[in-house]
Amino acid sequence: MASKVVFEQKPAGACGLVRGPAGPPPATVNAVTTDTTTADPEQLRSALADYIRGRHTFRTPFRTPQVEAAFRAVPRHLFLPGMDVQTAYAPQVVITKCADDGTAISSASHPNLVAAMLEQLEVRPGHRVLEIGAATGINAALLAELAGPAGKVVTIEIDGDLAAGARAGLNAAGYHHVEVICADGADGHPARAPYDRIIVTAGAWDLVSAWWQQLAADGRLIVPLLLHGSGLTRSIAFNLRQPGRMVSGTPTRRRIGGAGRDRAWPRKQRIRCPNCRPAVPMEP
Ligand SMILES: C[S@@+](CC[C@H](N)C(=O)[O-])C[C@H]1O[C@@H](n2cnc3c(N)ncnc32)[C@H](O)[C@@H]1O
Repeated sequence: MASKVVFEQKPAGACGLVRGPAGPPPATVNAVTTDTTTADPEQLRSALADYIRGRHTFRTPFRTPQVEAAFRAVPRHLFLPGMDVQTAYAPQVVITKCADDGTAISSASHPNLVAAMLEQLEVRPGHRVLEIGAATGINAALLAELAGPAGKVVTIEIDGDLAAGARAGLNAAGYHHVEVICADGADGHPARAPYDRIIVTAGAWDLVSAWWQQLAADGRLIVPLLLHGSGLTRSIAFNLRQPGRMVSGTPTRRRIGGAGRDRAWPRKQRIRCPNCRPAVPMEP
């Protein structure tokens, strides 16, 4: 008999809790499972993928079978140790680190947003991909699924503890080949450049030159861009058409939320990671 996995709405705000998008709580989600509630990661993973598939928050949830397959493959709970498995697969932002004053510093982004940005990025097998803002490492694992064994994924995280956590999660889930670098993503990672794709998952209000310079010909950069004075953030794709010329693609339609203090841009306001100069690779 088909029944439901119910994604519960949890209290908002505090560290270690989930945070939903603005507005009313998400509707209960219908998914094909054998139990009304389950702690089975595989069932929850499948239910989350079904949920994203059925959402119309973004214009095109799961436009491609590749992104859907990546979501069905990556065991999110291994990247969120200490959280209950239902929380790990909840279709909500999961705050993973707070500052002393309670401000959220890092999070696992909302799965709908992650899916939409991956669709924009259009990673192909064999691509060299740079991610800025590793946080838990979940998105890096999704990128590794998309780039395949012939591809290369490097992810940068400015916070030393978070970088170590991302490394541990990727190891636990078997993504030893993903490179985690503790560094300031505003510098990119020239050692592995050029990249066919660069995805920024920390908010930005300008495009730093390192990203342009480290993109391969015909490369694509995805940035959640804070639009000056509007309070809006849109994930925008920039395609490198020719050296020195980036052309914008389609933005996401929705406002982007999510926790994570953006410490990168512009350069004058950037806070440097005290433990990671020069860039420090995390041993797999
Ligand atoms: C919203 S989280 C990223 C979500 C993540 N990619 C995921 O899979 O869910 C943003 C992350 O960017 C990191 N960050 C902020 N500024 C950064 C910078 N200049 N360089 C590298 N990482 C940065 C934060 O520490 C935080 O962990």
